[in-house]
Amino acid sequence: MSYLHWSDDLNTGISVIDSQHRRIVDLINQLNTSNDSGDHEKINAVLAELIDYTLSHFAFEEELQLKAEYPFFKAHKRVHEVFAKRIAQFQIRANNGENVATEVLSLLRIWLVNHIKGDDRDYVDIVKKTLGLQATEPKDQVWVVSLLKKVFG
Ligand SMILES: [Fe+2]
Repeated sequence: MSYLHWSDDLNTGISVIDSQHRRIVDLINQLNTSNDSGDHEKINAVLAELIDYTLSHFAFEEELQLKAEYPFFKAHKRVHEVFAKRIAQFQIRANNGENVATEVLSLLRIWLVNHIKGDDRDYVDIVKKTLGLQATEPKDQVWVVSLLKKVFG
């Protein structure tokens, strides 16, 4: 039984975004599993990957919004920044040897789902319409591939 279940109402219909959201959900579940096992090295490794991936995902979303001239880009970026600051604090505590996994999990489980269903839903239409991303696989569009490379490395 997974900690956070992917459900279809989390789909935005932009495949490149949905696969990133799924990856985050997957990492949340991995963090939960390693937290249950009590393996601190594993917990820290998954936590670092989850944080790193989530921040890259934010950057990717912001680039799409900029490209699509999404009118509420600044507000959305601000939401990402506020969340990134909270995450940075967890990372500091983790680096000091604290186990913050349980707190991170309960925060992310609620925050992520609300963010996907709320703030993210708002930019989907303009991004689909302007960039033609609807059901297009990222590999079909050269600029998407280079943006993925730029953001995720
Ligand atoms: Fe977002």
